Amino acid sequence: MTVLRPPAPAATPEPASPDLPRHIGIIMDGNGRWARRRHLPRVAGHRAGVRAIRPVMEACDRAGVHVLTLYAFSTENWARPRHEVAALMQLFGETIDSEVGELHANGVQIRVIGDRARLSERLQRKVAEAEALTARNTHGILNVALNYGGRGEIVAAVRELAARGVDLTQLDEETLSRALYTGGLPDPDLIVRTAGEMRISNFLLWQAAYAELYVTETLWPDFGEAALDEALKAFSRRERKFGAVSEPAPAPVMDALSSRVG
Ligand code: FPP
Repeated sequence: MTVLRPPAPAATPEPASPDLPRHIGIIMDGNGRWARRRHLPRVAGHRAGVRAIRPVMEACDRAGVHVLTLYAFSTENWARPRHEVAALMQLFGETIDSEVGELHANGVQIRVIGDRARLSERLQRKVAEAEALTARNTHGILNVALNYGGRGEIVAAVRELAARGVDLTQLDEETLSRALYTGGLPDPDLIVRTAGEMRISNFLLWQAAYAELYVTETLWPDFGEAALDEALKAFSRRERKFGAVSEPAPAPVMDALSSRVG
C-alpha cells in the first residue's frame, strides 16, 4: 500500500532562546531570476537552489531552530512548462539520493508534506524510504513541501476527519490542526520569502496564522548563512502579541479612541 502521509513528527524541544523561532518556513523563490542573470537555463537556477539548502540547514541547527519547512513544489507549479516540471521532479529524486545519508547521520527526520499521490511511483518510493529511514531521528525536522498547497491540505484534512467518522458539526481548531500534514508540530514562528514578492502563495495557510513574515530581495540561491542570521535578527526584534496588547496605551490615547468609537 502506498503511504500517503508523513510519519509522526519527532518531539520538538524548546528553542535555545525565546527570541528564536522553533519552526521556520521558507518560500524559496528566485531560482529562475538567478539563472537568467547568468544567462543560464532555469534548471541551473534550481540546481543552485538545492545547493543553497545545506548551509541554511546548518545555520538553523547552530541557532537551535528545530523545524525547517521548505516549499519545494506547489500544487500550482504543475502549470510550469513540462520540461521544467520534469527537471524539478528529477532533481527532487537526485537530491533525496545524494542527501539522505548525511541527513540521517546528523539525526534529522525527513518528512514530505503535500499530496504525494500525484508524484511518480518512483519518487513516492524514494520519499517513503527516506521517511522510514529517518523516522526515529530527533535532532531536527526537515519538512519538504512537495506538491503542497495550503488550501488543499485543509480540504484533505477535513475529508480525512469525515472519513474517520468525526462529527464535523463539532469540529474544533485543535482537531483540524492535528489532521494537517504538520499535525503534532509547532506552528511556524517565522516565514521567510526570498526574491522580494510579498505573497504567501498557498504556503502553510492555517499554520502561519501568527507567523512573522520576513521578505528579502535576496534570490534563493544566494540566501546563505548570513542571510538567515539577518532573518533571525529581524525576528528577534519583532514584538509578538498574538492579537493581544503588550502594554496598555496611555490614558489620553485610550480616552480619545473610546470617544471616537463609542
Ligand atoms: C522558485 O523559483 C523555486 C521553485 C519553484 C523550486 C524550488 C526548488 C528547489 C530550490 C529545489 C529544492 C529541492 C529539494 C529536494 C528540497 P522560481 O523558479 O519561481 O524563480 P523565479 O520566480 O525567479 O522564476
